[in-house]
Amino acid sequence: MNTYVTGTTIKHLREARKLTQAELAERIGVSSKTVSKWETAKGLPDISLLQPLAQALGISVIELMNGERITNKNVSANMLRGKFYVCPVCGNLLHSTGNAVVSCCGITLPPLEAEEPDAEHPITIESVEDEHFVTIHHPMTKEHFISFVAFVTSDRIQLVKLYPEGNAETRLQLRGMGRIYFYCNRHGLFGKKK
Ligand SMILES: [Fe+2]
Repeated sequence: MNTYVTGTTIKHLREARKLTQAELAERIGVSSKTVSKWETAKGLPDISLLQPLAQALGISVIELMNGERITNKNVSANMLRGKFYVCPVCGNLLHSTGNAVVSCCGITLPPLEAEEPDAEHPITIESVEDEHFVTIHHPMTKEHFISFVAFVTSDRIQLVKLYPEGNAETRLQLRGMGRIYFYCNRHGLFGKKK
């Protein structure tokens, strides 16, 4: 984890739950003086207290560490607003339809921002009836490759995993308006309207 809980976060969440320092202290089995120390940056809760502390504050441990609670009013509203996350350590690929705190290999992953395909990552789409042959003109070595291609519309996502030493191409059914995404392990996420 690249962040640790801060006193400001504890204070903010405690007040939002309308708990006194003594009440919070009692719930997690410490003294109110200890809670006061945390909140004034004169100490930090032991790692073994994070789970009970998060529970007492009505939040997940990851949200507690990040200092914010994620609340989505309607996550299923539109998949076009979904987000991709890729773990830089293990390559894990995640997709969320709403805001989320996503963590993998001890790292909190930021949602990826897609760029327009550039000169080093050109994409061509050839349409044959309702199938579309998507090719990304890009190396596919173990060090530098395209790891997935996705087509996202408001109600569905097609996701194709690609592997080094394979070809950077796939077939997609492009129904409706959407966005084609692909991810280069070195240069990040690219997106193009379709
Ligand atoms: Fe690249």
